Amino acid sequence: MTNSTNPDAKAPNQAPSWSALAAHQKAISNQPIADLFTQDSARAEKYSLKAAGIHLDFAKNRIDDVGLTLLAQLAKERGLAERVKAMYRGETINSTEKRQVLHVALRSQLGELPEHLRDVDAVIAQMTEFVAAVHSGQWQGFTGETITDVVNIGIGGSDLGPNMVTQALTPFHKPGLRVHFVSNVDASDLSETLKELSPARTLFIVASKTFTTTETLTNANSARQWLLSSLADEAAVAKHFVAVSVNLEKVKAFGIDANNIFPMWDWVGGRYSLWSAIGLPIALACGMDHFNALRAGAAAMDEHFASAPLTENMPVIMAMLGVWYINFWGAESQAILAYDHYLNAFTKYIQQLDMESNGKGAYLHGGYLEHHTGPVIWGEVGTNGQHSFHQLLHQGTRFVPADFIVSLTSHNPLGQHHSQLFANCLSQSRALMLGKNETQAAAEFKAMGYSAAEAKQLAHHKVMPGNRPSNTLVVNSLNPETLGALIALYEHKVFVQSVIWGINAFDQWGVELGKQLCSEIHPALVTQADIEKFDPSTNALIALYKSANPQ
Ligand code: F6P
Repeated sequence: MTNSTNPDAKAPNQAPSWSALAAHQKAISNQPIADLFTQDSARAEKYSLKAAGIHLDFAKNRIDDVGLTLLAQLAKERGLAERVKAMYRGETINSTEKRQVLHVALRSQLGELPEHLRDVDAVIAQMTEFVAAVHSGQWQGFTGETITDVVNIGIGGSDLGPNMVTQALTPFHKPGLRVHFVSNVDASDLSETLKELSPARTLFIVASKTFTTTETLTNANSARQWLLSSLADEAAVAKHFVAVSVNLEKVKAFGIDANNIFPMWDWVGGRYSLWSAIGLPIALACGMDHFNALRAGAAAMDEHFASAPLTENMPVIMAMLGVWYINFWGAESQAILAYDHYLNAFTKYIQQLDMESNGKGAYLHGGYLEHHTGPVIWGEVGTNGQHSFHQLLHQGTRFVPADFIVSLTSHNPLGQHHSQLFANCLSQSRALMLGKNETQAAAEFKAMGYSAAEAKQLAHHKVMPGNRPSNTLVVNSLNPETLGALIALYEHKVFVQSVIWGINAFDQWGVELGKQLCSEIHPALVTQADIEKFDPSTNALIALYKSANPQ
């Protein structure tokens, strides 16, 4: 990690506030969070924010006013405000790929866009027309059947965002149209999806920004064969395949009708692209009105992010608390615990957003980092996670900050389910904060009938250190607006952290080597010749594969 020749004079650990934060961490490292509430009766109110329909309670964190002031100072010293403006202004902040970063432009309201971004409106209009045609039955399959199933073929940002949102907005789905997602090159993904579908009533969206992604093209080719094996006419492709891509030439070469292409742009990164036509499955599942409401929710968060002062800025507060724990408390991971079943895929989505953005080891301007960057993101919907890994959160030796996400109301009011869910969510953050000391643990064992000696001996097993920090994010209801705001919140959080760390959140060079090596290894698997050109381990595994799959 260390590099004594780091040429970047602006490394964050050279900021004056960095050493002050390190000293402050030492000063408060034994301070119980619970005591902070006693010391300041207004803490719960002071340490909470409201923006774009989201309530953030960050009072259960190992932070005080001095720490927050220092974190805001670090953000200032790192030039955050200027970087945010640079992004909104459309500067080429993704300098390693020489690209602008303008996903915020994708949710601007009509008419607000500068001239060179006006084709965003044109693509939204194209989506609106297409979605209406599919919903009304005007768009028919090759044999005149109504479309009943849409299969999105894409991977990474061309899958995770639309897939997560489509699941999250299940209560808003239009009846009569089912939307499926195929991403994995493992044929089981496509085969299991197509098993139940009728070619004459199925529409494929091939979603790939680059249209060079092997997994997506392999799945799209197999899907086309499946269609043609039933409809037996190349002309059917035009009625059953549409594409979303920057690479119009490659889409046409694949055989998709030019009228069926929804363009996107270099200036939107894959993992930030669900607001573009990559969101077509969302619009087909829920309707354009809900897709636009999702965009409006994100735009409200964009507005808050661009205008709120640092200490009242929700993405900034969440980002700086993350920096605090990663760089000053040694946190290596971040749990995302959504207490909403419709957010089942949310953590998986945030994994790409955060880990592909901030899983970096070099400064934006060159040189290797001397500090840690993005955490491992993991989690599960509540209450399922409680019966799985929460044990580690409560008693394990790791320090894992957690984000709890919960709605005040349920889409499925049923008896006391929702109050139970909400109570569980609050109980977990409170248990993480309070823990249980030895005296309490021993008393519990005694109450269970153990002798005093046994209770003392066993107490350690019940002790929970507590003082484990968390945020709680609350929405009134999980709907397109609040979901849009929630996603934008995490997008901006990730960006803020990248600015503090001095890295580029918008490239992903680390995924390239695996792709290159795969293009060398794959031919070796499908040839009769013996292969010895790789390392002995890889050669042996190739031979093993070939013994099970003779050519
Ligand atoms: O995994 C690398 C990656 O480039 C992601 O950043 C991207 O979201 C995904 O592949 C899919 O790329 P495309 O949309 O170009 O097929």
